[in-house]
Amino acid sequence: MDFKGKKILITGGAGFIGSNLAFWFQENAPEAEVVVFDSFRSGETFDNGHLKSFGHYKNLMGFTGEIVTGDINSPEDLARLRDFDFDYIFHEAAISDTTVNDQQIMMRTNLNAFKDLLEMAREMKAAMIYASSGATYGNAPAPQTVGREDPANIYGFSKLAMDRLAYKWMKENDLPIVGLRYFNVYGPREYYKDKTASMVLQFGHQILAGQSPRLFEGSDKIQRDFIYIDDVIQANIKACDPKRSGVYNVGTGKARSFQEIVDILQKELGTDLPCEYIPNPYVGQYQFFTQADIEPTREYLGYEPEVSLEEGIRRYVPEIVRLYETEVVSR
Ligand SMILES: NC(=O)c1ccc[n+]([C@@H]2O[C@H](COP(=O)([O-])OP(=O)(O)OC[C@H]3O[C@@H](n4cnc5c(N)ncnc54)[C@H](O)[C@@H]3O)[C@@H](O)[C@H]2O)c1
Repeated sequence: MDFKGKKILITGGAGFIGSNLAFWFQENAPEAEVVVFDSFRSGETFDNGHLKSFGHYKNLMGFTGEIVTGDINSPEDLARLRDFDFDYIFHEAAISDTTVNDQQIMMRTNLNAFKDLLEMAREMKAAMIYASSGATYGNAPAPQTVGREDPANIYGFSKLAMDRLAYKWMKENDLPIVGLRYFNVYGPREYYKDKTASMVLQFGHQILAGQSPRLFEGSDKIQRDFIYIDDVIQANIKACDPKRSGVYNVGTGKARSFQEIVDILQKELGTDLPCEYIPNPYVGQYQFFTQADIEPTREYLGYEPEVSLEEGIRRYVPEIVRLYETEVVSR
């Protein structure tokens, strides 16, 4: 893909995936103009005690593009984006926390704001590449396949509603639209998601603190499709030139257990701490086995996952250690 002279909007660009995308363009397509839109964190929390938005300036340290601060729920804030004429919109801004139960704000932020952004994309004739989620599947049988969803919480429901809206728009408008259902993503720049950061990072920091890794009971059988950030970025870039607009799974196609994450981390960090097993408080809203069907993603996006769990953790460990030393210990 040639992004020379292209104008690119990344909503949620101060968050985990959005900031990684911003840096991908900065490093690989320096002649593209990248604009980040994000509300950043304010200190406000939801009922679950977690921050309402996780965007953090440290994710954008070194980013040289323009940053627009605003709320995707605010028409006035979105109007600031109309000064630009974007070619691509990567829509990552959302309530990304799967444990938020406030249905009203979840639906407003994830669904209604998406429609406003689709309207903007239509006006600007921009391609829309947006973040859906493996949470649309809940506990639907593996391999999870587009068309067989069963969300287990309002977050998954809101993402499925986005996909349904996207399909309607694909039919009614001549606009490239690609929804990417990320499975469990891990890697650099997720630290500021606090307790909602991946378990790879959280276990890593428990181990570095010399604590027993705390796993849910039966963690050798709880399996997920864990995907390294570089493969998620690959899928986003390939989605800029899809053979077909659509909704696609973005995973590795392999299910791995939480126990395996701990075992690989201990090997990389040279520890042998005993694990502690605790009851799972999320039973009923929790995914026990996810494994993405990625055949259509291969066929229509040319996507091919490149990073195994072993390789992803190996690449990530120096950053896990750096964060531990610079952020955790000094806290
Ligand atoms: N990380 C994963 O494992 C994963 C899995 C599936 C789907 N997703 C989806 O991918 C996208 C990016 O997720 P992430 O992991 O980078 O999460 P994140 O929370 O780090 O990023 C989301 C960003 O959106 C911003 N934001 C939140 N509400 C906003 C609002 N009202 N207006 C403007 N900005 C707002 C936040 O400040 C944050 O920077 C989200 O849509 C998420 O639902 C992530």
